Amino acid sequence: MKETKAESKRWTRIALCDDIPPREGRAVKVGNREIAIVNLGDRFLAIDNRCPHKGGPLADGIVSGTTVVCPLHAWKISLETGEGVNSASASSCIETLRTRVEHGVIFLELADNYRKGQEDGMQELPVLCVETGGTATAAESRPAT
Ligand code: FES
Repeated sequence: MKETKAESKRWTRIALCDDIPPREGRAVKVGNREIAIVNLGDRFLAIDNRCPHKGGPLADGIVSGTTVVCPLHAWKISLETGEGVNSASASSCIETLRTRVEHGVIFLELADNYRKGQEDGMQELPVLCVETGGTATAAESRPAT
């Protein structure tokens, strides 16, 4: 019987809370993937930043309750489950990621496959600086807290 290796995950600093206004999302790059971080006011949720329809940037969508409406063709996606919640998107689903906040910094629980594309030997991903009104961002190293 073939054994499968357990997927390795770890908490990684990803953005500053103050960089994402309430009821808005921002896209951050992690390795070769993009993740939408959304500020619901009382918590931050994270999902892949690719709409399951045609890859629209969900970080730029309209946040409504715990859902986001894709800016391209209005598919509505749950930020909690990644599932489509309107008739057009009902059979679709994208990946969600666990978040936590510590000392004003948002952490994501990332599997190692998210980290591909990072420099070899990097101990910790940098905190990503999020530009207001924009998408992906440049990286800036910050000391661990
Ligand atoms: S790409 Fe999102 S609804 Fe079409």
